[in-house]
Amino acid sequence: MPEILPLAQQGEAILQQVALPVSDFSDPQLPCLVANMLATLQAAKGVGLAAPQVFIPLRIIIVASHPNQRYPNAPHMAPQPMLNPQIIWRSSEQSLGEEGCLSVPQQRAKLWRDYAIRVRYQDLTAQWHEQHYEDFIARIVQHECDHLDGVLFPERYQQQAATPT
Ligand code: NI
Repeated sequence: MPEILPLAQQGEAILQQVALPVSDFSDPQLPCLVANMLATLQAAKGVGLAAPQVFIPLRIIIVASHPNQRYPNAPHMAPQPMLNPQIIWRSSEQSLGEEGCLSVPQQRAKLWRDYAIRVRYQDLTAQWHEQHYEDFIARIVQHECDHLDGVLFPERYQQQAATPT
């Protein structure tokens, strides 16, 4: 049975670290970790989760957009785990949208993100995939990839507030 994992909260060191690439795809713990991340994300009714948020310093995210109380207009998608995700293309167009984070539960902010992206990632069998996302799902991918580089959305917000556009 998948396990619900504890969620790291803002201020914990793991959330500020750069996560390591997944390299050992034969590790039997890897599918368990992804299943546990999915259970944790669903229990928290979240739309995305990165491994550092459950105290695992690896480059793994799950993107799982669905309409909920926090994001009533979010599109439905099957939860998508991505290992070693890389954003390989970004649109020049940006969009402003509200974000929150399971690791920063008391805050929300309107942030600029690239409107569309192309992401390259591996699945649990190490096979590479590429996917184009727009709007809210592209926003989730950018938010989760930030987690892999030790960046939380309030820091992005501060950067944007300090930079004239
Ligand atoms: Ni987050």
